[in-house]
Amino acid sequence: MNSPVMQGLSLNTPAYVQHTKLLAWVADMAALCKPAQVYWCDGSDEEYARLCQDLVDSGTFKRLNPAKRPGSFLACSDPSDVARVEDRTYICSAQKEDAGPTNNWMAPAEMRKTMQPLFEGCMQGRTMYVVPFSMGPLGSHISHIGIELTDSAYVAVNQKLMTRMGKAVFDVLGKDGAFVPCMHSVGAPLVGGAKDTSAWPCNPSVKYIVHYPETREIWSYGSGYGGNALLGKKCFALRIASNMGREQGWLAEHMLILGVTNPQGKKYHVAAAFPSACGKTNFSMLVPPAGFEGWKVTTIGDDIAWIKPQPDGSMVAINPEAGYFGVAPGTNYHTNPNCMASLDKNVIFTNVALTDEGDVWWEGMEKDSGTLPGHLIDWQGKDWTPQIAKDTGAKAAHPNARFTVSAINNPALDPAWDDAAGVPIDAFIFGGRRSSTVPLVTQARSWTEGVYMAATMGSETTAAATGAQGVVRRDPFAMLPFCGYNMSDYFAHWLQMGERVKASGHTVPSIFCVNWFRKDASGKFVWPGYGENMRVLKWMIDRIEGKAKAHETMFGFAPTYDEISWAGLSFSAAEFNTVTSIDKAAWQQELQLHSTHFEQLAHRLPKALLETKAALEQRLAQV
Ligand code: OXD
Ligand code: MN
Repeated sequence: MNSPVMQGLSLNTPAYVQHTKLLAWVADMAALCKPAQVYWCDGSDEEYARLCQDLVDSGTFKRLNPAKRPGSFLACSDPSDVARVEDRTYICSAQKEDAGPTNNWMAPAEMRKTMQPLFEGCMQGRTMYVVPFSMGPLGSHISHIGIELTDSAYVAVNQKLMTRMGKAVFDVLGKDGAFVPCMHSVGAPLVGGAKDTSAWPCNPSVKYIVHYPETREIWSYGSGYGGNALLGKKCFALRIASNMGREQGWLAEHMLILGVTNPQGKKYHVAAAFPSACGKTNFSMLVPPAGFEGWKVTTIGDDIAWIKPQPDGSMVAINPEAGYFGVAPGTNYHTNPNCMASLDKNVIFTNVALTDEGDVWWEGMEKDSGTLPGHLIDWQGKDWTPQIAKDTGAKAAHPNARFTVSAINNPALDPAWDDAAGVPIDAFIFGGRRSSTVPLVTQARSWTEGVYMAATMGSETTAAATGAQGVVRRDPFAMLPFCGYNMSDYFAHWLQMGERVKASGHTVPSIFCVNWFRKDASGKFVWPGYGENMRVLKWMIDRIEGKAKAHETMFGFAPTYDEISWAGLSFSAAEFNTVTSIDKAAWQQELQLHSTHFEQLAHRLPKALLETKAALEQRLAQV
């Protein structure tokens, strides 16, 4: 051990850590946060088991019945700490306009003045875990390294499942490799030897999720939940990485990546952006329905893609994550059989309900069993019965309840998911949750039109973040809460990336816009979704291969009823019309909303997007 002692606190630094800047930073942060001890995570299975046992002993974890759910745990959070806190999330760039109108901003010096006293002594009585992690395959030219300092063992064990975490990261880092420092505290110091009485320590009233893009730092205070605390995910892999990508000429996107192989054995790779809790995990693990024998879908990633143009002009992608932090409610054998199989063992569940047999349950599982359980303990520790649910509307699981599971549990995992070289992207899909207006699928006529479609995406909000639900908000590229810089500059970056690919002589990936969520006049979803989305995916692949025809609409190329394969599904031409029709009045209103959206983003908005809008207006006038 190479263990400097500071003010009576040993840093416990393992001898294999030789990175001078990292050592100095850990020492500084320990001096600031004043933990009772420092622990360096090595990422071993033995360590994972030990930390999980510590969490059981402290009451944060409940071990699930090993006969039902081996190696799995349930954590229930404080009711004040259940989702990402977008209103407490800041991009502290030096200039306000570099954060842009879609981000909360504070000047870096002012934010540092706010954060300093919060972090002063914030880890008293707790352990500071040093969590080394690689976003992306260890050593890949597309990967980057982060070091998270956290006072939450829950975060440390989640990071073991969600990232390539542990000792091997230091081999890549060497003595002077670059890393993103990620500071995290639950903001609940145990002052003067106080005992921890909470199973979910957090700060119920003060939360800050802060990013300094120029210095590439993350500081998160007060929350132990999901994207607020697992700093590799939204904070690093999207907000900080989008800044890195802009500077270095690549893309950090809120996208799943899947492989799709046709019956002839030809494989394509698709990256798809949907807002939070709109079915990215389901789509990435799609099981082709009856009638699609010979087709195969494999998962590379379910939430985030890092995409780098190569010298030959191809765009290759990696999944920077190594696990899934998915929304549990609504997941079942109908919506996502591969995901359900992934959850059989070695899972951390958060805010789902506990059955009397020591297993987990969430809303949607009754579709598999055909019945509701007679009794549960809900995510808040209260009794739950079907009668209580009927009388009070109480949910057994929180709507944003999650599972954390390693990608290796996924039976549909793509063999190249961990390939350092990445996979070549053939198409991008963008989709929001819209009950009207936006058709089932269209293909952009050009890269610029595709960027326009993505830039104007709207979606009805969900429970993945706190705030009103079911309201349509513009969510460009599904990146509204995740773009770490000015959104208009981000659009310009996408346009430039297309130009760069074209200049190399390579074909740009096709861009498609989808909407699985159109409703009929009685408010019912019309498109069956889930595995049936394969029909749309097949049309896309056929388009890429030049096999499928399409007709031109005001909003890109679209399939007619006959151009979709209907084998194994009864879906009438009238139903197809309900999900694909373009309503002129609704689109006039929609384009008005695009204008309002563009007015908000007017500063530095690329002219090409305004020109595309004018062209769409002209086409609409002719409908
Ligand atoms: C997520 C989200 O957790 O988008 O992936 O909120
Ligand atoms: Mn997400």
